[in-house]
Amino acid sequence: MGARAAVLAGLGSYLPPGRMTNEELSRRLDTSDEWIHKRTGIRERRWVDAGVSTSDLAVEAGQRALKSAANGAPDAVGMVILATTTPDYPCPATAPEVATRLGLGTPAAVDMAAGCAGFVYALATGAASIAAGHTEQVLVIGAETLSTIINPADRTTAVIFADGAGAVVLRSGTADEPGAILTVDLGSDGTGKDLATIPAGGSRQRSSRQVAAPDDRFLHVRGKEIFAQAVRRMGQSATAVLGTAGWSVDQLDHLVGHQANLRILHALAQQLGLDKRRVVSNIEQVGNTSAASIPLALADAAAQNRFLPRDRLLLTAFGAGLCWASAALTWPQITPA
Ligand code: ACO
Repeated sequence: MGARAAVLAGLGSYLPPGRMTNEELSRRLDTSDEWIHKRTGIRERRWVDAGVSTSDLAVEAGQRALKSAANGAPDAVGMVILATTTPDYPCPATAPEVATRLGLGTPAAVDMAAGCAGFVYALATGAASIAAGHTEQVLVIGAETLSTIINPADRTTAVIFADGAGAVVLRSGTADEPGAILTVDLGSDGTGKDLATIPAGGSRQRSSRQVAAPDDRFLHVRGKEIFAQAVRRMGQSATAVLGTAGWSVDQLDHLVGHQANLRILHALAQQLGLDKRRVVSNIEQVGNTSAASIPLALADAAAQNRFLPRDRLLLTAFGAGLCWASAALTWPQITPA
């Protein structure tokens, strides 16, 4: 019998219904479907309607993940971790409200702020809590309403970022079971904090006693620099995880990377020496959903029966902070909801 480990027991996802196509954006901004698709791989994305917030999407995805896990997981969720860059409020955290609305009682509940790397950071944290014996079951959610923090007049961010939510249930099990989270690699580099930032709204701006410029409440991204850092950092992190897992690149069945830009995923595959056909991507339909991107990509690929039980998966993500995170796992026998 293998060592105690967290095992993937359920998977759920939710996209808000409102479609924003490249054609529609081209009517509002100086851009085109051709430019967006060629430079990013995106054709359309979902944006929430007025009044819909991150917790609303998180609850939908959480419900589906719990339903998906109903046959395999123990009853009690001891912890809820919500990875998000767009919490409902600066205070309090959004996870406790999500846990309450899901009817989970009074579990540990906390938000994880690690930009686009948030879901894998949260997965690693939940898995560690299970492996340490602190809890038996963890609900890990990545949920975003990035449409609420993009400047609708800024064509460099408005065409990329999108809304959605995905969630997994982790249960206690053993490392030799299909679905086991085998190893993780987490890192950060604060020298890159200005590459993706919302300048206003935090204590830095508030304590300066200066009134924030309206534009400072939006997300500002230095795309070219982020692009280069993303390929480099995810490449290093993915290589580290492969090494710890004892897997060669040839043994890897699927690379599920953060869906920031299709060109980033292809550059990453090339750097690793991985066949592009093993790269999972759904960015064409969903855009960049930051912390929701990896569980949404997992759910899409699983729904298309792309994964077989015991397939070897590598998750890797990079984003604001700068933060990056990777995880190696085998695929379980589950039905996503
Ligand atoms: N439509 C048409 N033209 C555009 C658009 C647009 N939407 N956006 C930029 N351009 C123009 C630029 O003005 C520039 O014109 P110029 O040559 O006349 O100066 C030209 O296109 C090239 O611009 P670049 O910025 O060099 O384009 P690039 O190929 O780098 O693509 C992009 C930009 C898509 C932003 C890319 O750099 C990228 O995907 N970066 C990663 C962003 C990301 O995912 N960040 C996630 C972290 S954020 C977080 O964690 C929350």
